[in-house]
Amino acid sequence: MELTREEEALLKGEKGPRVQECMRILVTLGEMSGARRLLPIYSVQLSGISYKTMGVAGTEFLEEMAEEVRFHVPTTINPAGYDVGGPGLVHTNTDFRAKQDRIVKALMSMGAIPTFTCTPYTTDFAPPSGAHLAWAESSAVIYANSVLGAYSNREGAPSALASAVIGKTPDHGLHRPEGRKAQVLVDVDVSKGPMRYTVLGAYLGKILGQRIPYFRGIRPDLDGLKELGSSLSAWGAVPMMHVEGVTPEASAQDVRGLERISVDAPALGEFQRCLGCDEDPQLVAIGCPHCTKGELIQIAQSVKRKGRKLKPGTELWVCSNRKVIEETAAAVEVLRQAGAKVIQDTCMVVAPLSEQFPVAAVNSAKASFYMNKKAFSGQKIVFDTTDNLIDRYL
Ligand code: F3S
Repeated sequence: MELTREEEALLKGEKGPRVQECMRILVTLGEMSGARRLLPIYSVQLSGISYKTMGVAGTEFLEEMAEEVRFHVPTTINPAGYDVGGPGLVHTNTDFRAKQDRIVKALMSMGAIPTFTCTPYTTDFAPPSGAHLAWAESSAVIYANSVLGAYSNREGAPSALASAVIGKTPDHGLHRPEGRKAQVLVDVDVSKGPMRYTVLGAYLGKILGQRIPYFRGIRPDLDGLKELGSSLSAWGAVPMMHVEGVTPEASAQDVRGLERISVDAPALGEFQRCLGCDEDPQLVAIGCPHCTKGELIQIAQSVKRKGRKLKPGTELWVCSNRKVIEETAAAVEVLRQAGAKVIQDTCMVVAPLSEQFPVAAVNSAKASFYMNKKAFSGQKIVFDTTDNLIDRYL
């Protein structure tokens, strides 16, 4: 890789061993992927900051880093393991809280912005079109590339942290025009029934792996794109998608000769059955990825229409971020009056909930993927639409 004099100096350790370690991570990654230089970035999004994900080794590593380094670009962070800045609606044990607090303290001392959300693009730190990023939250990466016209690879925890410290990322993959081209043409036939984007993304994610799809036949709005992208990137590792007539780079794609996949509602209906079971949940959790303003208002309207309080023995969580919650005060009040918990700073996946709620109902295929995983949450999952969940459990 061609490094500037300043980058060479950092690599030699002139700013200390921790900064040197960060440079080594970026240079190794760049050399492995054929990058020729490091690119300055607009921002970093760190994921995996819940103690549930990070564990003891990760926490200690972060604390050691915090003794020596500071972030050099705006660095937003994913949800934590409990509602760290909220009114204490998420019940975790004191040991877990203490460990989570150590992670948050280390991040804050390095200069992290306390967004605690997987939807940084709905906060004051949304990147402009054309910005280069080093984001690690997969649902935010696919949204940034596909919808915002920004450029980010799917970073891992070490590379995102290194980028936050150095303020740069290797110039490869989704940062290059050739890395953003459609690779598979997906024809979606909506004539045989309604299409749920979260299910469509899960179904295709398994088939596509890391390949970039070009969709024809659907017209998702911004919330639909968020849903579709989050499932594609959880069930597969899809970093970007193009949707004909919808996403900004779709019209520049040449789809001639691409492998073709056709999907329709009956195929998805069959697949959807494997996303959940038929037991009674103790928790109904909505907001994976975190709810946008529009989604939160819509949920409140459905709850208001229903006109009932939550059934005893069931909790209803609506997860979102601080800014969205602040800006939808009336809707939030409707939800609270109905007995729902509007949760900030964490989510149903990264909070340790399996003992308290062994069966949970969700509307998101991404949440279903992780909560059902034995090694992660090991919960039984009921999967349905938001409206059906409200109808059944409110
Ligand atoms: Fe966000 Fe948690 Fe889902 S971090 S994308 S709500 S798993």
